[in-house]
Amino acid sequence: MLKTTVAVLLALPLLFACGEPEDTHPGQPVTHRRQAFRELLKASEPIGVMLRTNQYDPAEYQRLLGVFMEKREAPWTLFAPDTLYPPSHAKPEVWSDAAGFEAAKKDFLDASWQLSQLGADPGRDRALAAYKNVEAACERCHDAYKNK
Ligand code: HEC
Repeated sequence: MLKTTVAVLLALPLLFACGEPEDTHPGQPVTHRRQAFRELLKASEPIGVMLRTNQYDPAEYQRLLGVFMEKREAPWTLFAPDTLYPPSHAKPEVWSDAAGFEAAKKDFLDASWQLSQLGADPGRDRALAAYKNVEAACERCHDAYKNK
């Protein structure tokens, strides 16, 4: 059940990627940025699945959290100037409202930091509450700065 759910969720972005323009820019900055976000999703999804399906296991939870805390750093340096072109789904506001984007990023980093500070065995309920704050921070930023 866990494996199937994760596999289905991971397949979705791949499906949507079909038929999009190729990234022909030198160094493919948009491609690398999107890959970093896909890895962030891939690192966060199993935590949500574990916590929502009553499969909380402290050791495995800590392992997943460690991977997630590493992946959460990657996307942010990849929003260089002049990197808004197809196939990017970023909104121009990432650059035109840089302070707002920075604040949304800080919200996310704060929420995930709090998740990581609950101790070795926070229990399913506390972990899930903190995890939901992280998800909400992802969604708030997407609503403001990412096209569907
Ligand atoms: C501060 C803003 C912000 C936060 C926080 C954020 N994202 Fe995003 N995300 C973006 C933007 C902007 C894009 C579009 C990037 C592009 O296409 O150039 C994006 C794209 C994505 C994509 C699509 C990648 C693709 O294949 O095109 C996924 C998946 C994703 N984010 C997952 C997450 C997850 C999971 C979290 C939280 C754990 C998260 N994001 C947090 C701004 C954010």
